[in-house]
Parts: sequence; C-alpha cells; structure tokens
Amino acid sequence: MKIKTAEYVISSAKVEQCPNEKLHEYAFIGRSNVGKSSLINMLTNQSKLAKTSSMPGKTMLINHFLINKEWFLVDLPGYGYAKRSKKEQETLEMMISSYILDREQMTNLFLLIDSRHEPQKIDMEFMEWLGENGVPFAIVFTKADKQSKGKTLSNVSSYLKVLKKQWEELPPHFVTSAETGFGRDELLAYIEEINCSVPV
Ligand code: GTP
Ligand code: MG
Repeated sequence: MKIKTAEYVISSAKVEQCPNEKLHEYAFIGRSNVGKSSLINMLTNQSKLAKTSSMPGKTMLINHFLINKEWFLVDLPGYGYAKRSKKEQETLEMMISSYILDREQMTNLFLLIDSRHEPQKIDMEFMEWLGENGVPFAIVFTKADKQSKGKTLSNVSSYLKVLKKQWEELPPHFVTSAETGFGRDELLAYIEEINCSVPV
C-alpha cells in the first residue's frame, strides 16, 4: 500500500476525546522504549510525525494519525516503565485498557516486542489479557537492525516457541527495523488486507 498522506490529528487523554470518524484504527502498544512511535514514523516515512525519545516514557496520550484520509494509526503510551509514580502508572493503564476495550474502531492492535529480548513476564501477561478479552492483535518484533539477521531470526523463533506453549494458535508476527525500514511493506500489506476485508 502506498502512503500518500499522514497527518497528526489529536492527542487524547480519554477515549471519549478520540476522533468521531468511523474509520479503521491500528494501534501500537508495548513496553516503554520498544519503538512504537518510531515504527509509526517508519511506516509513514515521516521522521517527526510521532514524537520519539531515547528516554522511556515519552508518549503519554492516545495519538491519532490519519493515513491517506482513510484510516488511523494510533500511538499509545508504553507500559512497564518502572520510574513512573504509582498514580501515573495507574492512570496510564486505565487509559490504555479503556482505549483497547472500548474503542469500537480499533481494528487490530500491534504488540511490539524488542527482537533482542527473551520473553518477559509483563508482555506475556499482557498477551494473556488480550486473549481473555478477545482483542485481535499481531506481534511486531522491533529493532532488528541492532543485531545480525541470524540472531534476530533465532531470537524470534525461540520467542514463538515459548508462546506456542501457551497459545493454541500463534498470532501473526512481523520483524521490523525503524532504522532501515525492514518489514515496512509486509506490515502495510497486512493493514491493507484488513482494511479491505473487515468492516469498521
Ligand atoms: P514510549 O513512547 O516512551 O513508550 O516509547 P516508544 O515505544 O514510542 O519508543 P520510541 O519510538 O520513542 O523509541 C525509543 C528509542 O528506541 C529511540 O531512541 C529510538 O530511536 C530507538 N528505536 C526505535 N526503533 C528502533 C529501531 O528499529 N532501531 C534502532 N536502532 N533504534 C530504534
Ligand atoms: Mg512513544
């Protein structure tokens, strides 16, 4: 799919403040610093559309970006950033979970996992929660450029092996690099397929 236009629309603290349009939405979630905002910039070919930072905890609101005037990419705050106050963490968790569960337009969630890391409890529990709530999601392994191709492949395959112990059917998965653009075409093709086949 060709990205012709990508525009920032709004940052919302609550689901009720999100855009009213009934368009498909694809949201990015995962641990703080995993590369959610960077992936949105990579997909849209705009280096500064979503705000990124080398310090975890940058994205604090639900950010809507309108793509080709037809569908939205949604950047969410990360979870699991230990340096947040308990209150702040709770507020963010409420915001994220109510967006994921209540937002009818949310068509598919992309759960980002750092391709260098072994399975972490916090991500496994989050996936379980998605499963329990019937949320459609795909896994995106990020930062593939940070190690050799072979290492990425072996990490991803051991990660999926662990998942297979818990899941009868594995979710779709992608390997990406926001640095090199690796995985961009596959991810956009996946979104396009859903746009064409799933009603909002
Ligand atoms: P929060 O908003 O804090 O939850 O983080 P985030 O998940 O949005 O991460 P962000 O996109 O801000 O990226 C965090 C850091 O990782 C930044 O320094 C990025 O430049 C870097 N980064 C993200 N993706 C990649 C990637 O694919 N390759 C490399 N080498 N660095 C990446
Ligand atoms: Mg971010």
